[in-house]
Amino acid sequence: MSKKLRFLILGDIVGLSGVSLVKRWIPKLVSTRTIDAVIVNGENAAKNGKGITESIAKDLIASGVSMITTGNHIWAQEETRLSLNKYQNVLRPINFPSRCPGKGFGFFNLGSYEIAVVNVQGQAFMHEKVECPFKALDTTLTFLQMRTKIIFVDFHAETTAEKIALATYVDGRVSGFVGTHTHVQTSDERILPKGTAFITDLGACAALYSSLGMKSETIIERSLTQMPLRAEVVKDPPFMLHGVIIDVDADTGRALSIERIKILDPDPVLT
Ligand SMILES: [Fe+2]
Ligand SMILES: [Fe+2]
Repeated sequence: MSKKLRFLILGDIVGLSGVSLVKRWIPKLVSTRTIDAVIVNGENAAKNGKGITESIAKDLIASGVSMITTGNHIWAQEETRLSLNKYQNVLRPINFPSRCPGKGFGFFNLGSYEIAVVNVQGQAFMHEKVECPFKALDTTLTFLQMRTKIIFVDFHAETTAEKIALATYVDGRVSGFVGTHTHVQTSDERILPKGTAFITDLGACAALYSSLGMKSETIIERSLTQMPLRAEVVKDPPFMLHGVIIDVDADTGRALSIERIKILDPDPVLT
């Protein structure tokens, strides 16, 4: 009988309250659900909800996260622009210009199995002029498939159509394909025909009564005034912890199941 590996993948973590929330839940889920590895999107994990710092990344890794993906907010913290190459197990979208620091794919090990994770960003309704995600992922997978059959993709994109199209394009070539960026969880998790587990968007690890983790009042005022008001991260409970659990046949790389995780946590967190 071939070995089954179980992965917990969490959506965009917003602010230090989101980081605390994730740190609270990882040990619980790892023990109660026998999780083998955790992958998270950390593009909003910094204190102000934009970007990530090396110390936050280290904190998440020390708390049981194996790989951190990001997205369009990756460059929000100045230190990241200067030193992303030093960060361990933090990815930036692979289709940013090659002169950008950092890398778009990474590996970690589970026993004798090597796991690959790829981060790629969409083009539709995104401000950055990134390379075609289809071509970028195609090229990357050709290389990764020579090393391992267990591959996960975080596609950081706005539109449902672009996400479903790219997932279908790589169906059978990756174990799991998850969307991030919208911070709103979709209820369309499924195994695609050729064996890839898929969800259009994981959702977010953030305060429930917020606008994507940020203070709604400011977002409303921004809409009413058209002024570039800066929203703050909401640190008050309840919090939502969103993601999926994907089981993979470790020998074939095919997904066996995908389960949506949607936890509402009423308790305050320390920030
Ligand atoms: Fe985000
Ligand atoms: Fe984003």
